[in-house]
Formats: sequence, structure tokens, C-alpha cells
Amino acid sequence: MKIAGIDLADDKFPQHVGIIMDGNGRWASERGYSRQRGHNAGMQALKDFLNLLEKTPVHIATLFCFSKENWKRSQDELDGLFQLLRQFYRSEFPTLKKRKVHVLHSGDYAGLPPDVVRIFETMQKETRDNKGKVLNLAMNYSGRDELMRAARRLLLQGGSPEDINEEVLAALLDHPELGDIDLVIRTSGEQRLSNFSLWQSAYAELYFTNIYWPDFSDKDFAEAILAYQGRERRFGAAGEPRESEMLRA
Ligand code: FPP
Repeated sequence: MKIAGIDLADDKFPQHVGIIMDGNGRWASERGYSRQRGHNAGMQALKDFLNLLEKTPVHIATLFCFSKENWKRSQDELDGLFQLLRQFYRSEFPTLKKRKVHVLHSGDYAGLPPDVVRIFETMQKETRDNKGKVLNLAMNYSGRDELMRAARRLLLQGGSPEDINEEVLAALLDHPELGDIDLVIRTSGEQRLSNFSLWQSAYAELYFTNIYWPDFSDKDFAEAILAYQGRERRFGAAGEPRESEMLRA
């Protein structure tokens, strides 16, 4: 398929994409706007991305909306972000339902405003039989926290040290059914995971772009997919020797 004029191989799309939507604040401050205006623009970029997602073979999108570390921000900014989630529920959820999207939440409910928790519960309940795309919203989420909560679940089930293996631990994550992330995209020029989906990203291809999230367009997504399609994924196995290595041998 073609996205924004870029040719992409239909059979080599990632199944599960994770996005660290970073740079709303810098996008705003470079324009002399409030941080909230940056987040509002970020919400528009998110809506545009969901429209694009619908047309691609990508099946699952995990979006980092709010991390455990984000509580350090001002109360005003926190209120604004939760307000955006409420708006998202009112304006976007009906469309997602029509599209048969399965909406999920990853992260810790503890600490979130009670009505925000109810919104996530409602979105999950009302879409749980949907067989379309999967939209996993990570809110009050961090990768280490998810692993810690998985370990707690194991202990609460009466697990003992010899019960632990990768499969057991993976099954106790927030949404084990989603499996690994194939491609992580981070916007705004930062080149780190910042505690995003640590377990699920163990073998993910990482793609960093300098574009701020509010400016992230179909073309930027197409460029990320193009880069992914050019990568060789080996999952720890030996690859085909490169020409330079054959010359040395
Ligand atoms: C990072 O930019 C972005 C966030 C912490 C929030 C992401 C939120 C959205 C994309 C809007 C959609 C929101 C919801 C709730 C669905 P930053 O503020 O860290 O930017 P900076 O690093 O430039 O300051």
C-alpha cells in the first residue's frame, strides 16, 4: 500500500506498534503557547493517527498517554490531561465502537480520578467482543510498575520461586494477549524508552524521529514503517554474513 506517497510492502507491516507521543510541551513553547495547547494539538495528532491506523495492516497500537512519572507535573497540567481523556471518550469512543476497535487500558488504576477509571472500564467492557484493531491506552503506566504488579499477582496467587518462568510472568502482565511490540516509535528527538513497555519491547525495533508529536503526520508514520521494513529482525539468532564479513573470512 501507499501512505503519503510512500510505497510500503503490505506483508511486512508490524503487527503491534507502540508510540511514545513526546514533544507536546516543546511544540507549544516554541510557538509561545501554553502546554495545554500543546496537549490539545497532541490529541488532534492522536485522532489523525487513529484514522490512519484503520487503513493499515497494523493490528495493535499501544499508546503512551501518561506515565507514572508524569505526576510530577503541575496540577493544572494533570487536570488538563485527564480532561482530554474525558473529551476523547465523548468525541472519539463512538467512532471507535463503530469501527469495532477493541479498546484497552494498561497501567495502574490507583491514583487516577475515579471517573477516568470508569471511562476505561466502560470502554473496555463495551468493546471487549470487537474483532477490529486493538487500541491499548497506557495511562498511569510504567514498564517497571507493570512488572512489579505482575510479581505481586504471582505472590497473591500463592506462587513460589520455582513457579517463575518467562511464560508465567508474561501471563501476569496487564494484557498478555497483546504479545510483543514489533516497532516502537518515539517522537521529539529523545532516544530512550522512558519506562515504556519494557517487557513487550525486548525485541522491538526502535525508531526515533525529531518531529514533535503534534506535527506527526501520515508521512512520518510511513517513514517509520519504511525504516522497519528495511530492518533485519533476528531475535538473537545469527544473521546472514554481510559481504564485508565474508571478505574477512
Ligand atoms: C509528552 O509530551 C506527552 C504527554 C505526557 C501526554 C501525551 C498526551 C497526548 C498525546 C494527548 C492525548 C491525551 C490523552 C489523555 C489520550 P511532553 O508534554 O512531555 O512534551 P515535552 O517533553 O516537549 O515537554
